[in-house]
Amino acid sequence: MDWGMRNRLSKIIKPKTGRTVMLAVDHGYFLGPTTGLENFRESIEPLIPYCDTLFITRGMLRTCVNPNIEVPVMLRASGGTSILGKELLHEGVTLSVEDAIRLNAVGIGYSILVGADWERDTILDFANYVNEAERYGLIAMAVTAVGKDMAKDARYLALASRMAAEHGAHIVKTYYCEGFEKVVDTCPVPIVMAGGKKIPELDALTMAYNAVQAGAVGVDMGRNIFQSESPVAMIKAIRAVIQENATPKEALGVFKENKGKFRKPAHRKSGVAAKDDSAKV
Ligand code: 5RP
Repeated sequence: MDWGMRNRLSKIIKPKTGRTVMLAVDHGYFLGPTTGLENFRESIEPLIPYCDTLFITRGMLRTCVNPNIEVPVMLRASGGTSILGKELLHEGVTLSVEDAIRLNAVGIGYSILVGADWERDTILDFANYVNEAERYGLIAMAVTAVGKDMAKDARYLALASRMAAEHGAHIVKTYYCEGFEKVVDTCPVPIVMAGGKKIPELDALTMAYNAVQAGAVGVDMGRNIFQSESPVAMIKAIRAVIQENATPKEALGVFKENKGKFRKPAHRKSGVAAKDDSAKV
């Protein structure tokens, strides 16, 4: 890894702690106006000061995020299918490396679908994307996407994560599972945990705690933050777990202490409000 890549990686994974709190708000690329992100700008603005990296699509970055933000940005670079289609996650390239650089991204995220009919397409496209990203020193994060009928166990997630690293991923984003140590120990690049569908706050904090205890460098979490009854209190609690080694109980204290202070923005009712499909993935 050259100087530029090491520098970009240090923007994502904080050198002081070796950890990162990535805020994932890219869901609209296949889910549309996901619950909690209907009014995107209002929802994410108060969260930005508490994350180490923002994971987002280029369209929402350009239209809804103040360019003066200090946190680094990673851009979703794959897509092409929706929750309504038959081939969920049969993704291809949606962002050029040039545009990622123009938008001053430190890296990109790309989904691979190991074990599904179209695994070959997504893995070859990802490997080609890494070739391009490396030419310009961009960090490539592989997202080990899991279709709704696929098992999220250690055997499968270790296979997918290791394959992602073998094909050149610099960071792997994967789901938490029992035996997560195996996933981390057999993957030579840093792992961040995806949050998955919304669960009670203490459960999400416990899952994040267990993931970093097992060796993950942090989280790339979305719904368990922005769908919480108090998203700011929740990101602060997650931050306590990841960056300050708080226990789940201590972090729940941070959540409780802050939830009265930071209220969720009230969304206007919109005629096009989507039904929440985010629990299906
Ligand atoms: C979808 C993604 C999302 O960013 C990812 O799922 C993280 O969000 P959440 O914590 O809501 O699962 O990459 O493919």
